[in-house]
Amino acid sequence: MRSWRLWLFLVLSLALLLALAAACEDEEEEGTPAASPTPGAASPTTGAVSPTAAALSGKLEVFSWWTTGGEAAGKQALFDLYPEKCSPNVEIVDATVAGGAGFNARQVLTTRMLGGDPPGTFQVHMGHELTDTWVTTGNMEPLDALYAEEGWSGVFPQGVLDIVSYQGKPYSVPVNIHRANVLWYNKSVFADNNLEPPTTFDEFFAAAETLKAAGITPLALGDNGIWASAQVMETVLLGSLGADGYKGLWTGDTDWAGAEVTAALETFKRMLSYVNSDHSSLTWDQANALVISGDAAMTIMGDWIEGDYKAKNFTDFGHLPTPGSAGMYDALSDTFGLPKGAPNPDAVMCFLRLAGSKEGQEAFNPLKGSICARTDCDASLFDAYLQSAIADWKKDTIVPSLAHGAAASQGWVTEINDAATAFVTDLNVATFQSRLATACKEAKVCS
Ligand code: GAL
Repeated sequence: MRSWRLWLFLVLSLALLLALAAACEDEEEEGTPAASPTPGAASPTTGAVSPTAAALSGKLEVFSWWTTGGEAAGKQALFDLYPEKCSPNVEIVDATVAGGAGFNARQVLTTRMLGGDPPGTFQVHMGHELTDTWVTTGNMEPLDALYAEEGWSGVFPQGVLDIVSYQGKPYSVPVNIHRANVLWYNKSVFADNNLEPPTTFDEFFAAAETLKAAGITPLALGDNGIWASAQVMETVLLGSLGADGYKGLWTGDTDWAGAEVTAALETFKRMLSYVNSDHSSLTWDQANALVISGDAAMTIMGDWIEGDYKAKNFTDFGHLPTPGSAGMYDALSDTFGLPKGAPNPDAVMCFLRLAGSKEGQEAFNPLKGSICARTDCDASLFDAYLQSAIADWKKDTIVPSLAHGAAASQGWVTEINDAATAFVTDLNVATFQSRLATACKEAKVCS
């Protein structure tokens, strides 16, 4: 009898042990995030900047100006990864303020930030727009812990790391690299008029004359947000002064009042004589629609236009660097950071982790018309234009974009935009140049 009881005791104990072991296994599975926030991450992470994904809930507000075809498509691809990589329990609030280059969004953002109502995260250009406006003023959280966890110092180019950082710490996550100095043209319109795409200003004006005579708008412009003409001007300065001369404009080494700048502004003025008459009432993508329809032959715009072509299924386009700027890459990057006092910071951190991940960037960029800020993306996922941009990014001289926040502080850019607004109407080169020279002094870059 005793041995029978002993047997029963042993069997029950064993069953209990097995049940306990199984329960532990289940628990481990539940405790593991559905998917690691970063592809390839070895283990679930803990702590303030990296909570376990399963714990995330509530709302995540992502503030941007991405509303057009390619912009919305890229953004959605990123959002679609969030439930799997972060948490299905977080509701993403897609807060947008339409208007290219963030012209309108920045005003809304500033009001909110100053009013103590920051979004979870917001789109901001790398460079001065990020650092001067938000970081040096103490409005952003440093992201050095996130960068260390993800090993990002090894996957983003040093030049990019440098300009998303302040006093040695990164403050935002770059999701892409865009190129501003691209001339886009309608291939059939060029072929029908026996034209070759122009590589120099002389060739540009010769082609423009032929097109004008044929009743076609040579250059489509949509500057109802004035940044679009400032961006054309920036490419003309680049093509006229060269990379070093252009870079010197932002460091005080190139004289804004000098003869070379005068010549560039004269070229810009001449270009403006070939644009559509309704330019001031159109957005950049409405101007691009003129190229798609063949009413216009060319437009000068950043490569988000390629995302726009893709979204509109338009393939009959060609591209080349704007006149005189071959071998130069006028660069900008969209980045996201963590504002101080942001609601639901854990959900934001997982979004930032996703935005900086290889998988996130490979999903976002082919649709957006940009290339990865990371250096390890799979180029075969990108189309022919973007593959050429990937190759150029590696070999070209990189210069910072004016109109998209990389080159100059926000106040300086605003002053240049305002001066360009006046110039597009009065076409007075002397007044424009003197205003530009003064703006550099007011920005405390020129003496
Ligand atoms: C840029 C931005 C791009 C694109 C473009 C037009 O400033 O970096 O992502 O959205 O504006 O809106």
